[in-house]
This record gives sequence, structure tokens and C-alpha cells, in this order.
Amino acid sequence: MRAMLKAALPVRTQQLLSRWFRQPACHKQLKIPVEVYEILKGHIPREPNHGWQAPETAGRQLAAFAPILQQMREGKLREDFAALVEAVRLTRMDNPLVVEVGCGSAWNREVLGRFSNTAVRYVGLDYGVEMLKTAHATYPGVVTLVGDATDLPFRNESVDILVSGTLLMHLMSYQRAVEESRRVSRRWCIFHTVPLLQTRETTVLRKDAYGQPTLEIIFNNAELQAVFTANGLRVRAAIDSLPYDLEPVLGEPTVTKTFVCEVVER
Ligand SMILES: C[S@@+](CC[C@H](N)C(=O)[O-])C[C@H]1O[C@@H](n2cnc3c(N)ncnc32)[C@H](O)[C@@H]1O
Repeated sequence: MRAMLKAALPVRTQQLLSRWFRQPACHKQLKIPVEVYEILKGHIPREPNHGWQAPETAGRQLAAFAPILQQMREGKLREDFAALVEAVRLTRMDNPLVVEVGCGSAWNREVLGRFSNTAVRYVGLDYGVEMLKTAHATYPGVVTLVGDATDLPFRNESVDILVSGTLLMHLMSYQRAVEESRRVSRRWCIFHTVPLLQTRETTVLRKDAYGQPTLEIIFNNAELQAVFTANGLRVRAAIDSLPYDLEPVLGEPTVTKTFVCEVVER
């Protein structure tokens, strides 16, 4: 079916789409455990993703990241870390105020502190109190706020770079989150590590993450672009992030991208 749809497109469009959705050769795709995913159909609850706020999730997530952070400290950046560093570099901002929404335990502060081409003033925001406790235990002095991505506690145009930190995929109200990101940003919004589909419609999956039920949205690329455009955002770069090919689950390849968006309309 996918092949038939693709064949109906002009050759140049086929080539461009293939290039966009091809994983770069350096990316290592982990084997997808198909059985842990359930495709949700019909009614989808609005915001059931509270597993992130469970007391044990923060510690489990940080433990899972420990070896990846250790490699980063030895100079080997995982693809998502490299994508974030590159995204911030592309804004060409000097000493920007960066707010990371969905910061978890705030390891991206360390990533940017070590590898960014400019000093950044970092503020982490998360709706998980335990996440922020872990952030403070790991990074004493880090500035954090408890808050929700769909109702950000910032004034209009008060942030240089708003980073949505691998978060859009977990927000059933993602359109509202994009709107809020644009509202508080002076110029740049980075939507980090967004999983994308090319053909199938935006699809919600259920799986367990860190021992808690979690929803994941895999976005139809065209639909997501329309959400950005409707919110006055123009995509200036789409950077390859972590490999995440759900073809065995969804029947078509998926990738993740980190979008660097500029506010062009208010
Ligand atoms: C997958 S982790 C991302 C951690 C880190 N930013 C990264 O890029 O690796 C998603 C984070 O978003 C937080 N989160 C989920 N829903 C949220 C919401 N509505 N508002 C704020 N934070 C949220 C979770 O608590 C979790 O720490």
C-alpha cells in the first residue's frame, strides 16, 4: 500500500521523501520490541500520561541514562544530544536564555554546558516534582520550575530559546503546547526528538516506560508542519535525532527529528 502511494508521487518528490526518512548510516537502530506497543484507536484520553509523575520514574529514567551520560562525558554524544547542540548552534544566539520544557533530571543542561558553542542560561521546567528533585541532586544550583507544557508560567516573548525536550510525543494536547511554546518565545522554539511518519496519519501508541503506562504520539509529518505554520512558526532546520524505526509496529519507517523553528508571525 505504501509502495503504491509512493509510486503515485512525482519522482523528485519520491527522492526527497526517501532522503528525509532514511536513517543516516551512522545511526544504530535498537531492535523494536513490537509486543510492548499497542496502537490506540477510537477515543483517546486527553492527558493520561501521569506515569511521568510517579515517584519512582525519575530515578529509573536517570539510571537508564547513566551510561549514556558517562559516554557523553567521554566525548561521545548520542544522536539526540548532538542534535540539541546543533539546534542551539543554528540559532546563532549569544548567551541565550534557554528554557527546556520537560527537562526531566536536566541532563541537557550538562550537554549544552559542555558542548554548546555559546554559554547558555538554562532553566528546566517539568511537571514531575521528583524529576526536579533528581535534577537538583545531580546538578546543584540548576534553576528549575514546576509547570505544565500546556500552561507555561512565563510572560509572552520572555525566553530566547524554548526547547520542548523530547516531550511533544507525550502530550495529547500537543497543539496547545506548540501554541504555548510560541507565546513565550522571543524568536526560537526547538521541538526536540519528534517521532515522524510519512504516510500514515498521526498515531497514538501505548507502551510502558520506566514501569509506567505511557502514551506516545508518532506524528504525520505534514500534519505537524501544518500545526507549526498555524502557530506562526517556520521550520529553519530539521536535524536527525535518535533512531526510532517503528516499521515493525506501524508498517512504515519512522524517524525522529529535532526541529528548529523561528517565530515569524504573532
Ligand atoms: C522523555 S522525558 C525527556 C527528558 C529530556 N528532556 C530529554 O530530552 O531527554 C519527558 C519529560 O517530560 C515531562 N513531562 C511530561 N508531560 C509534561 C507536561 N505536560 N508538562 C511538563 N513536563 C512534562 C516528564 O515528566 C519527563 O521528565
